[in-house]
Amino acid sequence: MTVIIEQLDETRDISDTDLKLLIETKQYDHELFQHADRVRKEYYGTDVYVRGLIEFTNYCKNDCFYCGIRRDNRNLERYRLSKDEILSCCKIGYRLGYRTFVLQGGEDPFYTDERICEIVSEIRTKYTDCAITLSIGEKPYKSYETFFKAGANRYLLRHETADAEHYTKLHPAEMSLENRKNCLKNLKTIGYQVGSGFMVGSPFQTTDCLIKDLRFLQQLEPAMIGIGPFIVHRETPFNYFKNGDLQLTLRLIGILRLMFPYALIPATTALGTADPQGREMGLRAGANVVMPNLSPVEVRKKYELYDNKICTGDEAAECRACLSRRVSSAGYKIVTNIGNVRPLKEA
Ligand code: 5AD
Ligand code: FES
Repeated sequence: MTVIIEQLDETRDISDTDLKLLIETKQYDHELFQHADRVRKEYYGTDVYVRGLIEFTNYCKNDCFYCGIRRDNRNLERYRLSKDEILSCCKIGYRLGYRTFVLQGGEDPFYTDERICEIVSEIRTKYTDCAITLSIGEKPYKSYETFFKAGANRYLLRHETADAEHYTKLHPAEMSLENRKNCLKNLKTIGYQVGSGFMVGSPFQTTDCLIKDLRFLQQLEPAMIGIGPFIVHRETPFNYFKNGDLQLTLRLIGILRLMFPYALIPATTALGTADPQGREMGLRAGANVVMPNLSPVEVRKKYELYDNKICTGDEAAECRACLSRRVSSAGYKIVTNIGNVRPLKEA
């Protein structure tokens, strides 16, 4: 196994057979994480970037089987933030040192392209030194293009699973992997720094699905890769499944760091929900980004993608302080610059 890990470290690639072995073996995690941490330090030192997350709407027209804010969840109070509310989150975030704002929401038709552009342009005018990241799902090429022209420069859209058949087991028939991939391609063409990713341990996932996820990411070459364990939400059709495995998620972070040395990889909220030390473990396995919550406390509980999501009772400043402590306890340090992706170093 040592040989496989070394080969992955040196060439950033191994065969499907070796990947399968690495994904399915627990005993070598320590060695894997050591390699991943060395590579992460070579590219980013001990820096950890912060992205202020503003969850601005929990309305969603989609009905993904795993997600707590899916359309068919009638047991959820829905909310939308106004432009002014969003701007006041940015103001608080800017004071806390955030230079990236992530506007995330369900696919909510209320926010027409025009409304999104108004919000984005105003943030762009007020905060010229910040990155604006959108995470609002699948849209036509034209819409992505207008958001970009209005000043958005990053976009997060996880592919969720790169296995077409698995995709149909996680989503209703009106959604398709093909469309998802097409959106990601369009975002790249327009010039966004793109983030993608997948859930680990989602129902019906196999090792082959995970290998396909990694192969798909190799084609896409995203700047950001977000992964987290699947966590059950009681009000979804998947409420009788098990949560994804924490250790497997960490192992995949290690593998991602070796395959994509330059990538921005968050230690996600789902990781922190799966285990109180999950994000610290994620950082030690190769992650280099954290995404503290900037949403107003009154709405946080309502953006519950999965059960027991953390940080729903804390003010923005508390999340900031909490994460600083956590990041330094793991041996890294939060930096407040814009945190752009680094170029790949050729061997
Ligand atoms: N468990 C873990 N992650 C989830 N997401 C949605 N629902 C769940 C869940 N039940 C993730 C998806 C989505 C991101 C915003 O949250 O991967 O892209
Ligand atoms: Fe939000 Fe710890 S990061 S409270």
